[in-house]
Amino acid sequence: MAELLQQLILDTLDKSSQIHDTRTLTIPGQSEPAASHDAQITILGALNSLLSREIVTYDTHETLSHALTPEGAQIVLEGSHEARVWAALPAKGDGPPLSPADLKTRVGDEAAKVGQGRAFKSGWIAKEGSGLVKSVPSITDTTQLQLREVNSTGTLEAGEKHLAELRKRKLIVQRKGQWFTVHKGSSFTTSIAKLETDLTVDMLTSGAWKTSTFKKYNFEADGIPTSGGALHPLLKVREEIRNIFLEMGFEEMPTSSFVESGFWCFDALFVPQQHPARELQDTFYLSDPSTSLPPPTSYYDRVSSVHVNGGYGSLGYRAPWSDDESRRLLLRTHTTASSAAMLYKLAAKCRGEDVDGEGKGDVTKDAGDDGFRPAKLFSVDRVFRNETLDATHLAEFHQVEGVVADRGLTLADLIGFIRVWFKKMGMENLRFKPAYNPYTEPSLEIFAFHPLLHKWVEIGNSGMFRPEMLEPMGFPKDVRVHGWGIGLERPTMIRYGINNIRTLVGHKTSIENVENSPAVMF
Ligand code: PHE
Repeated sequence: MAELLQQLILDTLDKSSQIHDTRTLTIPGQSEPAASHDAQITILGALNSLLSREIVTYDTHETLSHALTPEGAQIVLEGSHEARVWAALPAKGDGPPLSPADLKTRVGDEAAKVGQGRAFKSGWIAKEGSGLVKSVPSITDTTQLQLREVNSTGTLEAGEKHLAELRKRKLIVQRKGQWFTVHKGSSFTTSIAKLETDLTVDMLTSGAWKTSTFKKYNFEADGIPTSGGALHPLLKVREEIRNIFLEMGFEEMPTSSFVESGFWCFDALFVPQQHPARELQDTFYLSDPSTSLPPPTSYYDRVSSVHVNGGYGSLGYRAPWSDDESRRLLLRTHTTASSAAMLYKLAAKCRGEDVDGEGKGDVTKDAGDDGFRPAKLFSVDRVFRNETLDATHLAEFHQVEGVVADRGLTLADLIGFIRVWFKKMGMENLRFKPAYNPYTEPSLEIFAFHPLLHKWVEIGNSGMFRPEMLEPMGFPKDVRVHGWGIGLERPTMIRYGINNIRTLVGHKTSIENVENSPAVMF
């Protein structure tokens, strides 16, 4: 269509050197000249395209024209209300008069009401008894004729007075319009070459670029909208979790060390060196470098000793100890490795160590102060496990972990804390099941009732950290530390209705979904 219109403009110009008024053109495929507003808009598009190639120039003329309202458009199709009333009535003496109620059913309430008044005024209809009849044999529906004229020309020959009347009746509205006078441009031609938009290697080698016509740059073009950054669903849920911890008075742990030693990931947590989780099929080990710097000496000795010989009321594992196993570097399999390092730091004052390196004198302890300060710590970060990948398992995922250290904490405190925390996440229906962790006793698995799956699903793991872990760190005997961990991916998948973890993370993630996922944090 666009090409046909351009060709028409060029052919017309070729014949008569200018197009005085574009309203006289008949757009290809239409039956009437292009008097309407929309038609002139279409022509303007064609003119601008030709103008950019200097094939034509044009002048713009502003007009005030009129357009039909929906009611006006209906009258063009069906006739005015008064004409429809007249048409519905019998001629005088030609059958029984029509009652006003019957008239309403024939032409509708609106037409009956408005049309009757106007038809009486024009002397088209008359009363006969309680009914209505035609009083003239034929009528001219001026309103319809005028609206037809406005529709095709945008104005009325009859003049402004009649236009004002139609405006008052809300059948037409005034509209600004444009029409154009077109002249030949400096590169006038009647054959429009396809414009090249790219200079290609082929054009350079064949020499075709010499004769090609290139499309001009349009520096005014809006360009492709740039999209801003978007938050990944995991980040949004992480933020929500972070806020819950912060409002409960927790402090975030530094968890940037993805690489840990076997010592901090397992030994410090009283995980035996022979534990199956430490095997290659469960843990990723580093090959270069493969060993860590030595851990703090005296602490290291206390840890190895509790493993081999026991102590603090424990028998220990009574199994051989390997320094190499302890020094092996690995990708941490849980964020509890970071929690262990933080707890060790928290116990520094209890050990009487110079915490901030300002000299011994800063370890100020009143008489009876053992240096312990309660702490509430949390983290949300990445962990790695050598898993078989499937719809719900990845080799790297995120753990959420909360740890509380205080004197005399009980299992009831742990359960209470978990209930409060999960309630803030919108999960109130919880159950606990005894479980086993090498570093906690007792240990509890956390189950939540999944309203959509209609069953109990395991969502986390928790427990009271063992004395074999806490006492070598230097904590006083009455200090209890409890903690729990959940995955970040599963609640996120539930929130966003994702059932395959690989569409949430990894190369199969759809950027579009990330960009379109709701911006709000839950
Ligand atoms: N580290 C445990 C896990 O990976 C979670 C946990 C944290 C359990 C703290 C007890 C205490 O599942």
